[in-house]
Amino acid sequence: MTKAAESLEQSIKDATAERGLDRDCTTLSRHVLQQLQTFSPQAQDLSALMNRIALAGKLIARHLSRAGLMEGVLGFTGETNVQGESVKKMDVYANDVFIAVFKQSGLVCRLASEEMENPYYIPENCPIGRYTLLYDPIDGSSNTDINLSLGSIFSIRQQEGEDLDGSAKDLLASGRKQIAAGYILYGPSTMLVYTIGRGVHSFTLDPSLGEFILTEENIQIPSHGPVYSVNEGNFWQWDESIREYIRYVHRTEGYTARYSGAMVSDIHRVLIQGGVFLYPGTVQKPEGKLRLLYETAPLAYVIEQAGGRATTGHENILDVIPKKLHQRTPLIIGSREDVAKVESFIQNGH
Ligand code: AHG
Ligand code: MN
Ligand code: MN
Repeated sequence: MTKAAESLEQSIKDATAERGLDRDCTTLSRHVLQQLQTFSPQAQDLSALMNRIALAGKLIARHLSRAGLMEGVLGFTGETNVQGESVKKMDVYANDVFIAVFKQSGLVCRLASEEMENPYYIPENCPIGRYTLLYDPIDGSSNTDINLSLGSIFSIRQQEGEDLDGSAKDLLASGRKQIAAGYILYGPSTMLVYTIGRGVHSFTLDPSLGEFILTEENIQIPSHGPVYSVNEGNFWQWDESIREYIRYVHRTEGYTARYSGAMVSDIHRVLIQGGVFLYPGTVQKPEGKLRLLYETAPLAYVIEQAGGRATTGHENILDVIPKKLHQRTPLIIGSREDVAKVESFIQNGH
């Protein structure tokens, strides 16, 4: 090899090593600042907020990874939450983790969760931290005791007004008010996916570093995918239009079903590989099961930012204005073409 060729080869090797190292240094908090291209107080806040959410994710992941080895971690508490659902010990643990990481943070004044009837106030943070965290501490609770994938969903809003009576009325606003949203997926590895309105980015927890390291930037959802993800056990409770859509996928080549019981994992699959996730309403419960502020709006923000869509069947999820904190909505979310197909069955019957 000539000297020139040798030096070229060396510089390519150096550049590759540098890129690799730079990528390893792209932690979540650094990424947020890079995205915002400023060190303004708001950018610092967002970076710190994401860092705390990441800490909550790490604590929950650690707890889950040892759950089967400890006493009193798995199973039900015997209580029922405000949603009328049986509460698992893991729901309570994860709910408390988010509260604990935001205490004394000076960042978050209120936390509103699927598991709490009313928001949790941290008055000492209020003069400085005018943010509210909305979250689903454990998504896919039915997977908890059998070591299958779970998630946490989060969303951040700026507090509007003083909320002196503690009614949190300012939260009854559309999903367009979210300034950040995303989820943590506890699977074979722990991943964090987030958006601050500048695309969707994924991070993987490197347990040896204890850091979420950038995995993929600016994720774009395919415009169509083979997967439809829905609990077909509800077939006879759905409206005829949804049943017709399911009959359509059954007789059309190229579709395949996937349903894990945790929508964070099902929607993560759809984000990466395309397709559609549905949790429609039923004739008895037209509003469906999923909660707008903690589940459907944050995931809709992520999927829209990745170029996909999320709708109730009649209205974009991000435009829905809730009447109450724990409001539910039907959800059809995923690739643009696949969401449009379901929509067309709901609106035109075919
Ligand atoms: P959660 O565990 O927070 O109550 O949410 C579970 C949600 C969602 O993750 C999942 O897709 C769906 O409920 C499963 O419900 P079904 O058992 O009715 O299919
Ligand atoms: Mn959930
Ligand atoms: Mn939950």
